[in-house]
Amino acid sequence: MSPYRKFIFLCNGSDCKKAGSKKLGSGIKELINSEDHKGKFKLIKTKCMDFCKSAPAVIIQNELIKKADIDDIEAKIK
Ligand code: FES
Repeated sequence: MSPYRKFIFLCNGSDCKKAGSKKLGSGIKELINSEDHKGKFKLIKTKCMDFCKSAPAVIIQNELIKKADIDDIEAKIK
């Protein structure tokens, strides 16, 4: 495993949960554990990040992904 990991911050606050962050988190885990990405990313679940209007909110490499879905994440970590 590479010692270098990029962090994926997924909000686990109430608005993001209502918008599907739990299911999105499962999808992200599956994606980052796939052969192509294994060891490169670490998923961090956060409290509310104050982007509730963009729920579910994800931050990758300092970039906010608004109303994120698994396709957005996949495109971002390619
Ligand atoms: S609940 Fe997710 S940003 Fe506020």
